[in-house]
Amino acid sequence: MIAFTRGVPDPAAFPLEELSLCVQEAMTHDHDAILPYAGSRGFPLLREWVAETNGGSLDQVLISHGALQILDFIVTAYAPNGATVLVEQPSYDRAVTVFRRAGCKVVGVPMEADGINLEALEELGRRTNPVLFYVIPDFQNPSGATLTLSKRQALAAWAVEHGCLLVEDIPYRRLRYQGEDLPTLRSLAPEQTIQLSSFSKLLSPGLRVGTAFGPLLQINRLAKVAEDTYITPSLLSQALVYRFLAHGWLDHQVQRLQELYGPRLEAMLAVLQEEMSDLADWVHPQGGFFVGLTLRNEIRADDLLAKGKEVGLILSDGRGFYADGAGDRFVRLPFCALSPDEIRSGIQSLAEIVRGLAQGGTP
Ligand SMILES: Cc1ncc(COP(=O)(O)O)c(C=O)c1O
Repeated sequence: MIAFTRGVPDPAAFPLEELSLCVQEAMTHDHDAILPYAGSRGFPLLREWVAETNGGSLDQVLISHGALQILDFIVTAYAPNGATVLVEQPSYDRAVTVFRRAGCKVVGVPMEADGINLEALEELGRRTNPVLFYVIPDFQNPSGATLTLSKRQALAAWAVEHGCLLVEDIPYRRLRYQGEDLPTLRSLAPEQTIQLSSFSKLLSPGLRVGTAFGPLLQINRLAKVAEDTYITPSLLSQALVYRFLAHGWLDHQVQRLQELYGPRLEAMLAVLQEEMSDLADWVHPQGGFFVGLTLRNEIRADDLLAKGKEVGLILSDGRGFYADGAGDRFVRLPFCALSPDEIRSGIQSLAEIVRGLAQGGTP
């Protein structure tokens, strides 16, 4: 069986030995800070690290149980029931679910190979008056696309002009296997952007450590929602992450991940080119966990999923990534937790199924 479903890190990527040492160190050095209730903003030394890395102040940082929980706080603070939020289309399915659960109207801005379509943004912005726009500018989940510099600049200007809050989610930013970093949206529109990041893809998702960096006013508001939710977040894992960083181990860890995942991305792109170039279109990511395919033929997602299951190929439902429920022809392919051999055999099966369905075969 090959699962092209969740984009989770390969367990081989967890720095087990280093983290074991950090647990001991955290309990020895940080017990006074992590055992009592201690405010809602998170472990101060880790907040300090995030603030310094981003060139901001301690109070501009909130740390919680993963970026997704902070997104939920943002929705509570800024997007009341019935408010309109923009997402890229396709976008991260769990984020779309968080917005929907809160009763938001979720509107998708169509994606192109180099990020959102700017004309559609103008038009949808005028028509729907959104309170926020959730954007994943680097190696987007699920398409793999990266927003170009000129589109970043245009989006930042648009957000300032319309007073629309940007929520910039960058869990994959450090997982670049080729090319050069582009400026963050936060650097282009600092007063208009809350930037979310996470240690889930860099160290371990089970630790549940995600960060928000943004304007003081907005972070204060999120801290109040956090306090009303849990008083204090779980601090041991935050101290553990801090101890890992304080050792200076992050750069080496990122390099290990690039060496692990980079060849998998190359394998995925090579086999797609061999097997599916007549069947689908995709962007060529330079990092992250995903390649998103758009199939050329009219194919129903239900048929694709059922046919895949028959041969042991587990696929995500493309419609989950589309705010408007389209997405029948969209297939997200995470390459992160599969070996190059598994990727090859999975794509060969997928190509066979798509070819069969395109020729009118039914499951
Ligand atoms: C774009 C994006 N944001 C957030 C998350 C979840 O992050 P966390 O584990 O920090 O909640 C993911 C995980 O797949 C993701 O792809």
